[in-house]
Amino acid sequence: KKVGIIGVPFEKGQKKYGVSVAPAAMRFAGLLNQLKEIDGLDIKDYGDVDTQTCDGRANVENMSDLALVSACNRRLSEKVTEVLKDDRLAVTIGGDHSIGVGTVDGHYNVNEDMILIWVDAHADLNTNKTSGSGSVHGMPVALLVKELSDYWPYLPTMDWQVPKFSIKNLGYIGLRSVDTYERLAIEKYNVPTFAMEDIDQHGIVNSINHVLQRLDPSGSKPIHVSFDIDALDALEAPSTGTPVRGGLSLREGITLMEIIHATGRLRAVDLVEINPALGNESDRNRTIEAGICILRAALGSSRRGTAPRGLRDM
Ligand code: ARG
Ligand code: MN
Ligand code: MN
Ligand code: MN
Repeated sequence: KKVGIIGVPFEKGQKKYGVSVAPAAMRFAGLLNQLKEIDGLDIKDYGDVDTQTCDGRANVENMSDLALVSACNRRLSEKVTEVLKDDRLAVTIGGDHSIGVGTVDGHYNVNEDMILIWVDAHADLNTNKTSGSGSVHGMPVALLVKELSDYWPYLPTMDWQVPKFSIKNLGYIGLRSVDTYERLAIEKYNVPTFAMEDIDQHGIVNSINHVLQRLDPSGSKPIHVSFDIDALDALEAPSTGTPVRGGLSLREGITLMEIIHATGRLRAVDLVEINPALGNESDRNRTIEAGICILRAALGSSRRGTAPRGLRDM
């Protein structure tokens, strides 16, 4: 199994300082070595995407720093495509969730039949007309799906990104802070959604299995998971910009990723919104550790342990 790691030190999709430090903080915490421990994994680090520069401007109402968001995502999309064409599973470390535009665009360009599982406290389905914050990290899903393209004004600098992904191939896990127009879109398009109350009623195992069954009944499509660390409860992952209480336990997050790994069809994972500058040292370490646990589960680490290579049939 081959994996490619991409860092995206980008934070202009929201307003707090620090989420751009996450790729460096995750590497410093030993991300690469902890993933290399997973049996049989070949990990290649593709380094960080340039997130600092853009040409042109885009002054769109209630949409902050669009030109930078656009330039960063354009480079990221190409990088994700490169990693997938190298036949590696693309692991992208954000950065805020606006970078989901680039990861999904880059994945879609390789696998048009991909399905997308958005694991998040939030739906990230606002447009600039419905957003209360004007922050693009609350808008990536709406930018990606073709069904909502008519709800956007013309977006300067975004011509490279033609929304082609269908909302019919999207599912949500972990929602508990959904704005009114986001809810309207989820209902209008009947997006398979397991909000926290649904997970409480059905359990995480049935919830993810139901989403996978709805999006891909034949069990044959490539899977993209975009994991916002705020999907986890704020007690498990306090260092994040928009924490919401009452979220997934780390164990539910791990179980979710183990089930997705077991399909054998996971092709791309994003881990976003870890902000090491928020909270104290213990908050920061706990949040980073939770993120590493989620990625390890996604890449096949077993909580049962793994016997040494070559001795397994003894
Ligand atoms: N719904 C709110 C907004 O539109 C919060 C979005 C939070 N998004 C995130 N990726 N953490 O601004
Ligand atoms: Mn290459
Ligand atoms: Mn979120
Ligand atoms: Mn998000």
